[in-house]
Amino acid sequence: MGGSTHFSVFLLVAIILLCSSTKTVNATCYASEKQALLDFKKDLEDPFGRLSSWIHDVDCCKWKGVVCSNRSGRVIQLLLEGPDPEIDDFGDQEISALSGKISHSLQNLTHLRYLDLSLNDFSGIPIPSFFGSLRSLRYLNLSGAGFQGMVPYQLGNLSSLRTLSLETYRVSDLQVDNLQWLAGLSNLEHLDMSRVNLSTASNWLEVINTIPSLVEIHLPYCQLDLISHHLGRDTFVFHANFSSLTVLDLSGNFLGHLIPRWIFGLTALASLDLSDNSFEGPLPRDLRNLTSLKLLDLSRNYLNVNHFATFLPSQLSTLTALISLDLGDNHFRGSIPSSIANISNLQHLDLSYNNLSSSLPKGIVSESHLDNLAALRIFEASGNSLTLKVSASWTPRTQFQTLGWGSWKLGPQFPTWIRSQKFLDVLNLSFTGISDTIPSWLFNSSLKYIYLSHNQLHGKSSNISENENQVLQYLDLGKNCLSGEIPDCWMNYPFMYHINLNSNNFTGSIPRSLFKLEDLEYLGLGNNSLTGPITFDFDAELW
Ligand SMILES: *[C@@H]1O[C@H](CO)[C@@H](O)[C@H](O)[C@H]1NC(C)=O
Ligand SMILES: *[C@@H]1O[C@H](CO)[C@@H](O)[C@H](O)[C@H]1NC(C)=O
Ligand SMILES: *[C@@H]1O[C@H](CO)[C@@H](O)[C@H](O)[C@H]1NC(C)=O
Ligand SMILES: *[C@@H]1O[C@H](CO)[C@@H](O)[C@H](O)[C@H]1NC(C)=O
Ligand SMILES: *[C@@H]1O[C@H](CO)[C@@H](O)[C@H](O)[C@H]1NC(C)=O
Ligand SMILES: *[C@@H]1O[C@H](CO)[C@@H](O)[C@H](O)[C@H]1NC(C)=O
Ligand SMILES: *[C@@H]1O[C@H](CO)[C@@H](O)[C@H](O)[C@H]1NC(C)=O
Ligand SMILES: *[C@@H]1O[C@H](CO)[C@@H](O)[C@H](O)[C@H]1NC(C)=O
Ligand SMILES: *[C@@H]1O[C@H](CO)[C@@H](O)[C@H](O)[C@H]1NC(C)=O
Ligand SMILES: *[C@@H]1O[C@H](CO)[C@@H](O)[C@H](O)[C@H]1NC(C)=O
Ligand SMILES: *[C@@H]1O[C@H](CO)[C@@H](O)[C@H](O)[C@H]1NC(C)=O
Ligand SMILES: *[C@@H]1O[C@H](CO)[C@@H](O)[C@H](O)[C@H]1NC(C)=O
Repeated sequence: MGGSTHFSVFLLVAIILLCSSTKTVNATCYASEKQALLDFKKDLEDPFGRLSSWIHDVDCCKWKGVVCSNRSGRVIQLLLEGPDPEIDDFGDQEISALSGKISHSLQNLTHLRYLDLSLNDFSGIPIPSFFGSLRSLRYLNLSGAGFQGMVPYQLGNLSSLRTLSLETYRVSDLQVDNLQWLAGLSNLEHLDMSRVNLSTASNWLEVINTIPSLVEIHLPYCQLDLISHHLGRDTFVFHANFSSLTVLDLSGNFLGHLIPRWIFGLTALASLDLSDNSFEGPLPRDLRNLTSLKLLDLSRNYLNVNHFATFLPSQLSTLTALISLDLGDNHFRGSIPSSIANISNLQHLDLSYNNLSSSLPKGIVSESHLDNLAALRIFEASGNSLTLKVSASWTPRTQFQTLGWGSWKLGPQFPTWIRSQKFLDVLNLSFTGISDTIPSWLFNSSLKYIYLSHNQLHGKSSNISENENQVLQYLDLGKNCLSGEIPDCWMNYPFMYHINLNSNNFTGSIPRSLFKLEDLEYLGLGNNSLTGPITFDFDAELW
């Protein structure tokens, strides 16, 4: 009895000792790795001292951007992402871009798993081929880091890589003549080569097909074309191996006139972007197989050109998971079928610049169309001559954020139901045949962008001054019949950057408050009957 108790206590102590020894929390870094990092720093230009914590007397595991393994003390991550270009320079950017050369000393970080150098500025140097010897890498992100030239085939040795991101922001900064090396990345899940020139990588599809682990493929604007891949017309019998794929972006390429059939076999797809290709013909029947799709972008093609199919084929309404559907800038015609209401989660619908037309009796959008799409927030359908048929007392169930209904047949009355829209940011009702006065509530609303040009709006516009909301930034009232003086109320709109009042019938002088708008980039006052001095104390263009 006693012996076994002693033995249990011994075992417990042993286990505790064992656990605490494998869990050395404050691991210190290896001298050779510290030296490698100091050498790496020495070749970099770091004008704002991002790497100022990288000094010899401090444990390199405590340096900014360096992560060590708690267990081994090895450097396993270098997090050196540069500044986000989307955030303007006036914000408190804590970091600035690194530039200069990339030292071979990084090769000594043999346990490095995660390397992020994205958004720095290596101004035209090639991607170092020795990156291919960082065999432990699982994550390599060189997006937007200013590299140029041929992507080194040595990267094909990074067989543990899960994520490879080589996105460039300028077309063809990077190039690949043969993509065969990619087949070495047998565990790759996420591939982003946006805008890398792949025009001579003729076997791109076969190579990608040897990597069934892929979950996301981003190859937009890569100059992929039909001629450049061996399969040619055989893409219609090609079978895609990467069946776990959830994101596919092949926008901005030329993949032939028919959407390759293999795409419709990827039933796990949640996001498909085929915009800006040259696809023609009706929407393929097999599209309905993609029942997991949440985002579908087929805009800027020639879909349905020379086709007399009714507008939205029924296969679309089986895609009930869709949240965003963009079919803008194609050649769809006819009506919006009521079955679109089956897509009950749809928040963003873009049908702009098609040939939906009220010359057909069906080209009418009714109350029920809109009321059934209760989740819809963004409805862009400018550039179609649709007619809206609603009763005078109608209040939509939907609260929109964007209504792009330019070119619809809406007039002559200004649609009063828009007043019920409490969260509307963008309203495009230009070219809609409205021949009315501007209702005062329009300027006392949440609207930031108002497009009302090319109507017959008339009367005085003094109600512009009756606003209490200061959010309006963009106002286009050009090509109307507004008269009287331009109200002197522009201090109420401090964020205004674009004002177009061209081609109306305004008289009197130019109000002083217009010149107090600090953000103004465009002011159009031409083709009116304005008099009096024009004084500028800003550098906006006057048209
Ligand atoms: C190391 O341990 C610390 C503290 O427990 C923890 O916050 C950190 O995430 C660990 N680092 C790694 C790379 O596991
Ligand atoms: C790697 O480390 C070793 C030993 O610390 C050193 O001799 C060698 O020069 C280093 N290599 C590079 C490329 O820095
Ligand atoms: C790569 O870096 C860019 C820029 O920092 C970032 O936007 C992107 O999400 C990263 N890619 C991956 C796959 O993590
Ligand atoms: C990959 O590594 C092996 C062994 O180190 C080497 O022989 C080969 O040349 C490397 N291949 C590439 C493409 O870098
Ligand atoms: C892409 O690469 C091909 C082949 O090298 C070249 O002819 C073409 O000009 C490149 N495209 C761009 C936009 O640089
Ligand atoms: C598809 O993937 C399997 C491995 O999962 C592989 O054996 C096969 O060669 C691949 N097919 C093609 C056409 O690459
Ligand atoms: C789509 O589904 C149908 C019916 O299940 C099937 O016959 C067809 O082959 C599928 N299409 C593709 C491209 O996989
Ligand atoms: C789609 O909606 C129509 C009515 O608008 C209905 O008859 C049809 O059964 C629905 N289809 C699906 C797949 O839910
Ligand atoms: C639009 O549809 C009309 C017939 O309704 C047709 O005559 C015209 O060619 C179509 N335009 C385009 C650009 O498809
Ligand atoms: C507004 O609608 C008009 C007419 O269809 C169109 O020409 C214009 O591009 C649209 N404006 C925006 C910002 O979408
Ligand atoms: C502006 O709108 C607010 C709230 O929507 C309302 O309380 C106020 O009376 C309106 N002002 C004018 C001048 O219509
Ligand atoms: C402009 O106003 C004058 C009088 O103020 C009126 O005679 C004329 O018809 C108006 N023109 C237009 C195009 O509305």
